[in-house]
Amino acid sequence: CGIVGYIGWQEASPLLLKGLKRLEYRGYDSAGIALLNGSTLTVMKQKGSVSGLEKDTLVLRASMQGATAGIGHTRWATHGEPSDRNAHPHLNAAGDIAIIHNGIIENYSALKQELVSEGYQFLSATDSEVLVHLIDWIWKQDPLLDLESATRSALRHVEGAYGLCVVSSREPDKIVVARKGSPLVIGIGLGEFFIASDAAPIVEHTKKVVYLADGELAVVRRGGYCVKSIENIEQQKTVTELDFTLEKIEKGGFEHFMLKEIFEQPEVVHDVMRGRVRLDEGWLRLGGIADYLDRLKQAKRIVICACGTSWHAALLGEYLIEEFARIPVEVDYASEFRYRNPLVGVEDVVIVISQSGETADTLAALRTAKEKGAMVMGICNVVGSTIARETVCGMYTHAGPEIGVASTKAFTAQVAMLYMLALSLSKGRTMSDSEITLHLRELSEIPEKVARILELDSQIKLIAERFKDAKNFLYLGRGFNFPVALEGALKLKEISYIHAEGYPAAEMKHGPIALIDEDMPVIILATRDNTYAKILSNIEEVRSRKGRVIAIASEGDTEVSRLTEEVIYIPQASGPITPLLTVVPLQLLAYHIATLRGCNVDRPRNLAKSVTVE
Ligand code: G6P
Repeated sequence: CGIVGYIGWQEASPLLLKGLKRLEYRGYDSAGIALLNGSTLTVMKQKGSVSGLEKDTLVLRASMQGATAGIGHTRWATHGEPSDRNAHPHLNAAGDIAIIHNGIIENYSALKQELVSEGYQFLSATDSEVLVHLIDWIWKQDPLLDLESATRSALRHVEGAYGLCVVSSREPDKIVVARKGSPLVIGIGLGEFFIASDAAPIVEHTKKVVYLADGELAVVRRGGYCVKSIENIEQQKTVTELDFTLEKIEKGGFEHFMLKEIFEQPEVVHDVMRGRVRLDEGWLRLGGIADYLDRLKQAKRIVICACGTSWHAALLGEYLIEEFARIPVEVDYASEFRYRNPLVGVEDVVIVISQSGETADTLAALRTAKEKGAMVMGICNVVGSTIARETVCGMYTHAGPEIGVASTKAFTAQVAMLYMLALSLSKGRTMSDSEITLHLRELSEIPEKVARILELDSQIKLIAERFKDAKNFLYLGRGFNFPVALEGALKLKEISYIHAEGYPAAEMKHGPIALIDEDMPVIILATRDNTYAKILSNIEEVRSRKGRVIAIASEGDTEVSRLTEEVIYIPQASGPITPLLTVVPLQLLAYHIATLRGCNVDRPRNLAKSVTVE
């Protein structure tokens, strides 16, 4: 989601709308603004793009004229489908406090229950709305408080992440902002201040900015700003000079969205666990399917349908669910499932996986499964998407908008989600609570391990330089690394236009081995698990035919480096969780080979981000 704010001497609404447009790459399913004009607070918000909101505000322009302070939001739904009601800003009942929020309030349902028992009515299905009522309630308890201290006390009750802006017509000359986990920047102009979730909407107005740190709260007025800690201690902030182009800022300083999204993966894995896992208590709760979990556990069979990268995640789902929960799983291409009169019925559960939630084949597979009486559950990234709406229950991956056409972070989030799903299906059946806790602990270590792999970026770029002119690539993996081999090959094909094939390593001898010569680079996933010894033999098979091997191996393994031309070492992890690590160097390798060949990685030829035709 994107946040903007303005307080100064210029007309606020055109500035806010323009700022929101600059942020639309962060989310685009609904937008809204709140304007302060003297002691009048006006909110306009609706489902859809900022342009839609702009058209409607034009009609209302007269009533908005003269407002020189306000806040705005463009939303990418996490809780609650995209709709007018769920759009930000959210108001209190009296309509004199408005908030916009990025992030996730983890304890919102407990807070909401308390507020409802105090007589508060909620108009939206968002977690964010709880914040405005909480501030209102705290302010009512002690009318001597001001907006700043009421916000500060409210935030003490909140668990989770926020980038927050609050305005009130009771104190119309200020904007209160706070940050924990979701970025916020204050832009410093002459007698005017800009607020935003990143510098993109600010840079055209001023180059001087102050970045809020986690746990800081600021009050921004026309005459100046003051940053304090949540404990109310004033903070000395340094003013930073921006030297970015607008485009670079949108990409967070990265050359391409794809690279930015690859680098977001530590955070993505963290976010997919947020509110679902509590390690200290070994607690795992998948809210979106909680009411259907028993039905899932009793399924005679689970069928997973998807397309493209999501289909690779589905394959991992099969391996994970069968390994952990011992429920039979079948994976189908959605496009095949829909036309082959599949044998599914009431005793089966069909899981559809889709980043966009709009893929036509996956949607058709979902409808076929429903017609045949199966319970259908979804794993989607885009909240409120068609697939999310048509499934009986499901889970969102919360990976944030994925702009690069070749999927990266959405895949990681899907796999982490399936890992948690497999564990929930095991609970009380095939695994003890302490075993589940061990697996959850491993999952919680993934963000840091992925971050360590990302540090290998320049090594991987050097490898890309050596191999970028190859005409074909072969990717081999066994067990949990087999679907990763498929995904690695797909990434390379999609963005570099080099022919690549993924294969189960042992199958190589039944065909692809005929292709191997000194011009054929072979990427082999050779991490330490129960297939390790076999993989070493596969490496020998390639070597003895003069194939050039690039291995992905576990840190500390000296054996593999003796046998191969290049090795990328990644942190150790156990088999089932390894794909979350092994896929990362493959994404980076594909990215660098493609950029070195001059390809447009964010928009590869002939492909589309969301394929809504069959
Ligand atoms: C397109 C995209 C792929 C994606 C596939 C499935 O082909 O280019 O990156 O994996 O669709 O998309 P979905 O949104 O259903 O996951």
